[in-house]
Amino acid sequence: MKNKALSFLLFLLFSVLVMTLSLKVEAQKCKPSGKIKGKKSPKDQCNKSNDSECCKEGKYYNVYKCSPKFSAKTKAVLTINGFEKGKDGGGPSECDGNYHSDDIPIAALSTGWFNKMKRCFKNITIYGNGKSVTAMVIDECDSTRGCDKQHDYQPPCDNNIVDASRAVWKALGVPKKDWGEMDIYWSDA
Ligand SMILES: *[C@@H]1O[C@H](CO)[C@@H](O)[C@H](O)[C@H]1NC(C)=O
Ligand SMILES: *[C@@H]1O[C@H](CO)[C@@H](O)[C@H](O)[C@H]1NC(C)=O
Ligand SMILES: *[C@@H]1O[C@H](CO)[C@@H](O)[C@H](O)[C@H]1NC(C)=O
Repeated sequence: MKNKALSFLLFLLFSVLVMTLSLKVEAQKCKPSGKIKGKKSPKDQCNKSNDSECCKEGKYYNVYKCSPKFSAKTKAVLTINGFEKGKDGGGPSECDGNYHSDDIPIAALSTGWFNKMKRCFKNITIYGNGKSVTAMVIDECDSTRGCDKQHDYQPPCDNNIVDASRAVWKALGVPKKDWGEMDIYWSDA
């Protein structure tokens, strides 16, 4: 009788533990908040240089309001962006409404990490290719919208992107021919 009560108690404890753990894992997952359908981009829109992708008519793209959980060393994908006027970044920077020189280390973060402008002008450290560089966050890589004029008819940003100027790629010592996409870690500087 005593044993039965004890094992029942243990079973209860165990169930509660499993439930809290799975809830935690659930909270860390970042699921799409919806989908958008690609429209045909007008002629002369969507600049395909720098590995930019253009929205395909009728194709669905996931959108995200969240990014993967942020930690002391957050895994991300580094991409390249032009922040100067008329370049592939589309409009001016979200943080100050200005264009910026690509010769300084600057970056845009996916919507979740951009955290409603809270990371504007904050410095982050980017670790990649065995090196590190400090870059200032000046823009959002919009994971919630895309395939429109404001985003140069490019798909919405993935939720795990650090989209950086060429100065960042240079500082990490990546040969120019390999600029485009690379796995990195980043943290607040
Ligand atoms: C894309 O950008 C390159 C380099 O800036 C430019 O030469 C080209 O004309 C642009 N293409 C379009 C379609 O805007
Ligand atoms: C491609 O990226 C580089 C580096 O940021 C930038 O200088 C260049 O203007 C970009 N090209 C286009 C067409 O946006
Ligand atoms: C970020 O780094 C730049 C260049 O090193 C520096 O001028 C600026 O004060 C730093 N910003 C913050 C918020 O630490």
